[in-house]
Amino acid sequence: MAEPRCVLICQNRSCLNNSSAEVLTAFQAAEVPGVRVESSGCMGQCSSGPTVRIVPDETWYCRVKTSDVPEIVERHLIGGKLVEAKLNPRIHLRMEMFSS
Ligand code: FES
Repeated sequence: MAEPRCVLICQNRSCLNNSSAEVLTAFQAAEVPGVRVESSGCMGQCSSGPTVRIVPDETWYCRVKTSDVPEIVERHLIGGKLVEAKLNPRIHLRMEMFSS
């Protein structure tokens, strides 16, 4: 059985200082069927937080604001497409290097 999708929102100090608690609340309020929303500890991307990681597809979004949440919900979680403008370039550049 496929692993259920989960949105992890960092609630450690640097991300909290940039309103990640409000981002967590916004994802929880969206209530997307089949998608869990969980708080997480530091994911090592503190300088570009709030960090949002979607598993199991391993999409990492950076500097996520509450105003970005509707687009991530509609486009990614419901529509299955990446929100390119919010991708964490440190993570996704690295993946592109290995996939070519
Ligand atoms: S504090 Fe959020 S990624 Fe480190």
